[in-house]
Amino acid sequence: MKPEDRLIIALDTKDIAGAERILDETSEFCNTFKIGPGLFIKEGKDIVGLVKGRGKGCFLDLKLFDIPNTVLSTLESAAHLNVDIITLHILGGEKMLRSVVDCDLRPKILLGVTILTSFDEKEAKRVGINLPLPETVIELARLGRDCGLNGVVCSGEEASQVKELFSNSLLICVPAVRMKSSSDDQKRVVTPEQAIANGADYIVVGRPILEADSPKEVASEIIKRIEIPIFLYP
Ligand code: C5P
Repeated sequence: MKPEDRLIIALDTKDIAGAERILDETSEFCNTFKIGPGLFIKEGKDIVGLVKGRGKGCFLDLKLFDIPNTVLSTLESAAHLNVDIITLHILGGEKMLRSVVDCDLRPKILLGVTILTSFDEKEAKRVGINLPLPETVIELARLGRDCGLNGVVCSGEEASQVKELFSNSLLICVPAVRMKSSSDDQKRVVTPEQAIANGADYIVVGRPILEADSPKEVASEIIKRIEIPIFLYP
């Protein structure tokens, strides 16, 4: 896979004009752009059209988490958008996962969110998750694999274990990527090259690019940093 296929830029901008600026600056370094609920609720199919109109892959990061019937009808409503990737929470459970995997109108790639990268152990305990986070992520990835998801979203810290156990059956998508270690709302962070060395197929980068003086320079630096010799890829 080329580095430009591995980098996914999160278009977490206020509006379509902001997204257009990021696309203009970074398209040569990135082949898939992610649209989250904020921009999607505001701009709807226009933002999807903008990304697809540039010939780019479109990742609609809705993180669906509801009863099977509701998730299914959401996917059916989204089908006309023709996006490439949609996310859903694996915690939605087996019935929900199996029903979307079997849905005719599903996107090509369904990615299951394991545990949000903004969670640390303390936060996890507050919602009743008492196992260590790496074990929880592995169990959720296993459920996703058993139900037929195409891949999972996990932190770079857990990516190597997920890769070791499920490399033949699951794509690994790692958000919370930082150019150097930093602390914001993301807790389980890694650098671009760490994420790839740990087995990520894709890395998702938002603020390090969006908030940079030059998004282009940061995107270009990320590509250089993940362009490691092919034999080093796990
Ligand atoms: O700005 P930052 O690089 O932290 O953006 C990360 C992006 O990845 C955000 O759009 C966020 O919604 C998304 N994401 C995440 N953690 C997950 C799944 C997706 O941060 N588990």
